[in-house]
Amino acid sequence: MSDNSEQRDFWTDDAGPIWVEQRSGMDALLSGILGKTLKRADLDAGHSVLDIGCGAGSSTLAIAEQIGESGHVTGVDISRTLLDDAQNRAMGRTNIGFLEADAQSYPLVPQTADAVVSRFGVMFFEDSVKAFKNMAAALRDDGIISFSAWGAIGENPFFTLPAQIARQILGPIPKSDPDAPGPFAFRAPDRIEAVLSAAGLLPTVDVVTEQLVCADGAEALARIMCQIGPAHSALLYHEADAAAQALLMEALTDALGTYQTEVGIAIPAQINYATARKST
Ligand SMILES: C[S@@+](CC[C@H](N)C(=O)[O-])C[C@H]1O[C@@H](n2cnc3c(N)ncnc32)[C@H](O)[C@@H]1O
Repeated sequence: MSDNSEQRDFWTDDAGPIWVEQRSGMDALLSGILGKTLKRADLDAGHSVLDIGCGAGSSTLAIAEQIGESGHVTGVDISRTLLDDAQNRAMGRTNIGFLEADAQSYPLVPQTADAVVSRFGVMFFEDSVKAFKNMAAALRDDGIISFSAWGAIGENPFFTLPAQIARQILGPIPKSDPDAPGPFAFRAPDRIEAVLSAAGLLPTVDVVTEQLVCADGAEALARIMCQIGPAHSALLYHEADAAAQALLMEALTDALGTYQTEVGIAIPAQINYATARKST
């Protein structure tokens, strides 16, 4: 299927309500990544910005702060569920708009954006080259694309740790294809470079090892992991009952305890920060 309808259904019916519920915890965990993504976008007062895969709008609100009242940011997302939450949060803000659309194919207004930005919102396209061509067309000639994507799977215990613990507690879980649209589709910098170059862009990718911090402690992070990612998929796959869920929570909380620091649970992460300009 090349119209991303599978992703639309997933982000509207399955993941959307959960992301809304877990929004504040995920935002706290990923706040450093948003900061680095926006810094690379070089935003300025008055800029016109597209926030692709804006989800519940946390990045859109942060962009609106940076570009001020003379600027405008449009949050683009394929999920009605997440956009409803984003729209509520942005109520009364005159420099924010939202668009329910597939960023791969929606005819975005050409040559209008100073920046196209995304935190973790561009790894889900069936046809990534087509999607980036579409976004590049919306970019002014001197504009910039800046996005973040998860790096190497083995360097991201946010995914590998719950997968490992879920296998121990619940049993085997089916392997998903990391190259398919999903969180790891842009884990390889050379894939990002190939896709962006094929879309007529000049890319740069910074691979950064950093830490994701959950100040609320191991149990809070374990709760997030049981809702989002491999542990959640395993619970669904095994149709886990309350007792099995409690066992998984306990084992995850214990395992995460080994990452305790003075500021909270700090787990390592490898993030790819991509920026690109038009080659014309
Ligand atoms: C991992 S979430 C990230 C959300 C948000 N950027 C954040 O950091 O909290 C991925 C987002 O991309 C959106 N998305 C997936 N495919 C899309 C597409 N083809 N067009 C627009 N948005 C899409 C999803 O609905 C979801 O909101």
